Amino acid sequence: MTSSPGHSPVMLEEALDLLNVGAGKRYLDATVGLGGHAEAILKASDPDGRLLGTDADPDALSQAANRLMQFGDRVQLRRAWLDASPRTATDAGLTPFDGVLCDLGLSSLQLDSPERGFSIQAEGPLDMQLGPPEGTPTVSAHQIVNEWTADELANLIYDYGEERRSRRIARSIVRQRPVDTTTQLAQCVVDAVGIRPGSRVHPATRVFQAIRLEVNRELERLAAFLAQVRGLLRIGGRLVVIAFHSLEDRIVKQFLREQSSGSEPAFRTLSRRVMRPSRTELERNPRARSARLRAAEAI
Ligand SMILES: C[S@@+](CC[C@H](N)C(=O)[O-])C[C@H]1O[C@@H](n2cnc3c(N)ncnc32)[C@H](O)[C@@H]1O
Repeated sequence: MTSSPGHSPVMLEEALDLLNVGAGKRYLDATVGLGGHAEAILKASDPDGRLLGTDADPDALSQAANRLMQFGDRVQLRRAWLDASPRTATDAGLTPFDGVLCDLGLSSLQLDSPERGFSIQAEGPLDMQLGPPEGTPTVSAHQIVNEWTADELANLIYDYGEERRSRRIARSIVRQRPVDTTTQLAQCVVDAVGIRPGSRVHPATRVFQAIRLEVNRELERLAAFLAQVRGLLRIGGRLVVIAFHSLEDRIVKQFLREQSSGSEPAFRTLSRRVMRPSRTELERNPRARSARLRAAEAI
């Protein structure tokens, strides 16, 4: 399989296996990104499997379009936020699906493009938008960092970053305003909490996560997507979700627990415990280290 430079689809073998990919089937990749998983699904469903890929990010979609061109009309790509992906799929007339994949978080394209504002190491503007906003106006990362009170900032960093030192960090940010770039923001965090010797994770990682989740309303959109997902699948269809932090994973876990119990369950979970990347994958792709996969079958 070819892959774009710097990007390896995470937990690919596990996802293909759990999606039960095969010829003649239809798939929705609701976070198609650079098309890595999508390409593998289309190859494994040769000659006539079909795939709809959606994503909020127009840049990712144009890379995915180049990569997936070889599959002709077996593939369709549409720009949609996660919560609007089910509607887009219904409008495209492709439901019901045999499999739905959701590989959350950021693509390497977003992480490695300083101008997108996701990078802690490389200087960029405080942007952090996954794609152009739609519907309700969203708050920008620059506004959060420069206009929110210290209490509001601390609560966000605590709730969405699960960062215990949130108050200290918030005070440091407020003290150093105006904060215009990613590296300035990262420095505010370092000034507040220092750098733990030997740690591979930058101390600002959780702060960036918190702001990004708020800017893109990612958790809210994930919950709204899951609430619609059963309606997209045929009986026996598979749902695979790959999450990258505990807040996302908790939403998926809770959803599957509720949906697979009671007198009329909608799903049967396919693995009792959350699945993590293999050691071999982690050696090859350290960026996969926080991935956690859950899968279920529609009943
Ligand atoms: C980890 S990447 C997907 C990579 C893809 N599976 C591949 O192999 O190339 C996650 C993608 O999901 C998109 N995304 C994340 N949250 C989203 C949301 N709430 N709505 C729409 N797209 C979202 C991002 O824009 C990004 O392109």
